[in-house]
Amino acid sequence: MTSPVDFQDRMLSLGLARVSEAAALASASLIGRGDEKAADQAAVNAMREQLNMLDIAGVVVIGEGERDEAPMLFIGEEVGTGNGPGVDIALDPLEGTTLTAKDMPNALTVIALGPRGSMLHAPDVYMDKLAIGPGFAPDTVSLDMSPKDRVEALAKAKGCAAEDITVCVLERPRHEDMIEEIRGTGASIRLITDGDVAGVMHCAEPEITGIDMYMGQGGAPEGVLAASALKCMGGQIFGRLLFRNDDERGRAAKAGITDLDRIYTRDDMVTQDVVFAATGVTDGSILNGIKREVGYFTTETILMRSKTGSVRRMSYRSPIA
Ligand code: FBP
Repeated sequence: MTSPVDFQDRMLSLGLARVSEAAALASASLIGRGDEKAADQAAVNAMREQLNMLDIAGVVVIGEGERDEAPMLFIGEEVGTGNGPGVDIALDPLEGTTLTAKDMPNALTVIALGPRGSMLHAPDVYMDKLAIGPGFAPDTVSLDMSPKDRVEALAKAKGCAAEDITVCVLERPRHEDMIEEIRGTGASIRLITDGDVAGVMHCAEPEITGIDMYMGQGGAPEGVLAASALKCMGGQIFGRLLFRNDDERGRAAKAGITDLDRIYTRDDMVTQDVVFAATGVTDGSILNGIKREVGYFTTETILMRSKTGSVRRMSYRSPIA
């Protein structure tokens, strides 16, 4: 028999899909309009409004920033009606603001929900990330290996040549040496200009996306969101926080992080079962973007629960108001 807790979790997950859809729909008319801020603000407003309708006592642990930087969905903001389970929430109402403004692939709205204390309170700093898909031993690759060794180790575990491996990397000057080293192995690289939550998620479905591994430095909050996704889809992610100055180290201290060199595994970043929803804003390899037809927007949402490993893809046709 389904327990009441289970039931609640299942029903809540459907509510989460609506939250994700609403944020995407709100940004729809701003796709390709060159205004990142407006697109982000529209998504934030809609996500917050929908979240506040859910019967949860939610706290934003990964959000739009510190309270003094972000007026809405800031870290620590309480959301929901307050009449339900206490939950931690990680969110990014628009992951890929520039992708949206420029109508480039893989912009998403993302949200994950888990019991209180289930998610790493990652400060807004960079994180060195490494991810691979499901089905590999936990020690197949590690952040302590060089990029070359990671590619070769994954190729060995897959039983293929390094030339058959594709690595996804954010195109940034800071990654130039790493890119050269990866290319030196014969592996190919898919460069993305933004959006490393989607970048990591690609590793979970290599036969569809063509990507076997993700590596490089991106936002730490996005690392926790990506870990939530892989906890549901399968796959491994490792992350190490990177600090450039005392202000960033101070952010870690504020978040209760004392071991600044720690390597976090997926399950260190997300310690209990979570529900994850993402809606495509622009077309990508994982989700279709928002389609506009006369009178309607259509969205595609992926809704997943780590407890069951269930992955639902939902299409939603919404009349244009
Ligand atoms: P935004 O949605 O805030 O624009 O962030 C997108 C993103 O590309 C993330 O996916 C990634 O983790 C981070 O920015 C990388 O940061 P930077 O642009 O500073 O290299």
